[in-house]
Amino acid sequence: MPSNDRYPAKRNHSFRPDRPVTPETIASRYNNFYEFGEAKEEVWRQVGRFEISPWRIEIRGLVENPATYDLESLLREMPLEERIYRFRCVEAWAMVVPWTGFPFRHLIDKVRPLPGAQFVRLVSFHKPEQAPGQARATWYPWPYHEALTIEEAMNDLTMLVTGIYGHPLPKQHGAPLRLIVPWKYGYKSIKSIARIEFVRKKPPTFWNTVAPREYGFVSNVDPAVPHPRWSQATERMIGSGKTRPTLPFNGYAEQVAGLYRS
Ligand code: MTE
Repeated sequence: MPSNDRYPAKRNHSFRPDRPVTPETIASRYNNFYEFGEAKEEVWRQVGRFEISPWRIEIRGLVENPATYDLESLLREMPLEERIYRFRCVEAWAMVVPWTGFPFRHLIDKVRPLPGAQFVRLVSFHKPEQAPGQARATWYPWPYHEALTIEEAMNDLTMLVTGIYGHPLPKQHGAPLRLIVPWKYGYKSIKSIARIEFVRKKPPTFWNTVAPREYGFVSNVDPAVPHPRWSQATERMIGSGKTRPTLPFNGYAEQVAGLYRS
């Protein structure tokens, strides 16, 4: 677990969501983390055997500096800050969360991708003996894996996250290190990252493999494109239960819409 002395990190006040922060007691008891089961309200009770320290993170593929880092020492080189982001799940619920971490591009700059690297593939852990959902649901293509284009990964909004609500991430939120891509549906924001690979070709992703018609690769939040089984026009705030209109790119169009203009 990252040491406590770096929390709370300095808040970056450029990020001011238009709605109140979701209470921590609500956010930390309502989690999608299939490695620990499918019932959101039960995940926090199932994470007890999951070991997050020491944690190694492997960087490989098309980079000048492939390496396996001890996460604790890698983090010492990274500047931590707090950002309050909107967070939108594809299931049409939403939260507002103060994350602590650093822009992914700091790590990308350190490992120096080679010119052929077009995509970044992120892979979670596979430890069925510590993760009851992985042990039970053997039909899923474990370990959980996701990917972004290099341009998406380099965008300033894309964070590697080590903390939440001013302290290190609890296990149910994806300790010790997770991704946050606030303009995309939550399933892109992979938890408990064990490996990062720089690759030439678009990699397969977990939910796209499980249900290709329902979960795409790009997965930008878009009120105009319904999920095949429900509308995405509105979202339900966890906690207050208020319904709000869904914002294109989850409200981050100004920062990211340019990535998708050809
Ligand atoms: N990462 C892993 N490894 N396993 C998962 O099941 N679920 C995703 C994402 N990252 C998931 C994951 C989904 S669907 C969502 S909505 C968010 O994590 C939920 O993050 P939270 O529980 O911190 O709110």
